Amino acid sequence: MKQATARAHPNIAFIKYWGNADEILRLPVNSSLSMNLDSLHTTTTVAWDETLRRDSLMINGEVANQVALERVAKHLDVIRERLNMSEFAKVESNNNFPMGAGIASSASAFAALTVAAFRAADVALSERELTTFARRGSGSASRSVPSGYVQWFAGEDHESSYAATFAEVNHWDIVDVIAIVDSGHKKTGSQDGHKSAETSDLQLARVAGAADRIQSCKQAILDENFAQFAEVVEYDSNLMHAVMMTSKPALFYWKPTTLTIMERIREWRQAGIQVCYTLDAGPNVHCICVREHAEVVREQLMSISGVLDVVVAAPGGGTTVITK
Ligand code: PMV
Repeated sequence: MKQATARAHPNIAFIKYWGNADEILRLPVNSSLSMNLDSLHTTTTVAWDETLRRDSLMINGEVANQVALERVAKHLDVIRERLNMSEFAKVESNNNFPMGAGIASSASAFAALTVAAFRAADVALSERELTTFARRGSGSASRSVPSGYVQWFAGEDHESSYAATFAEVNHWDIVDVIAIVDSGHKKTGSQDGHKSAETSDLQLARVAGAADRIQSCKQAILDENFAQFAEVVEYDSNLMHAVMMTSKPALFYWKPTTLTIMERIREWRQAGIQVCYTLDAGPNVHCICVREHAEVVREQLMSISGVLDVVVAAPGGGTTVITK
């Protein structure tokens, strides 16, 4: 038996990925930017075992459901092909955040799974190649492999669609203060959401402007220019949600509390607090702010009715092997 354990952080996208040019290879229609979230992580052990007759999966100490197992087994098939190997694996994955908390775990899950699976087989891939394989499990997982502030280049084929660090973890002291407003599972996950993106008339416009927004957001991060950062990050999140709301069928992820928080954030910014919002495919609000304003943002969020919890995360490192 050959085994390894890897740990990965989820990430929050500042310029979003929404829609694939190739569903099987998960080649996105546009490049994206993100930051890893240090206080949240998934730890996954992969054990390749020639005596096993199928793959198995435990999540947070419980046998995973069939849908989750099939998705993981499919990802392991892709990895087995690269390794030219036929052994099955026992996979055990644990999140330090509750699965039902509405914090997406697929990015950290597939980043940790990919890195642990290759390491367990004693095959050392470059970071770049690891990002391409993580991408096959969940697009955003590619961005959880490198450290800090990361760009995922859309690319044109499996090899050219990869992610890389563009600013180190300690480059800029910003914090993600996540307001949890709903703990239930979403009705439409991102896998199906990506498929419906092209049914919105607005998707073409969103994609057409993505390269300019990447440029502007990257520059704002490199210059630590919060005003420029806030403008492009909120605009990009609004654009993605406009596409979701105008897709067929329409996807509405916002709850009344989501809108209340977005309104408050604009007011707080007017009042001099350096904070802006961004939302993934769910109602929780990621409030990105400079470190010195994190505590006041957290306190203010806790006082809003409908906010169930607040989780704080600073820029995080990449996926690491913790035992082998
Ligand atoms: O990697 P997926 O399939 O879970 O897609 C992620 C989609 C968003 O979170 C909405 C945006 C992003 O870029 O992370």
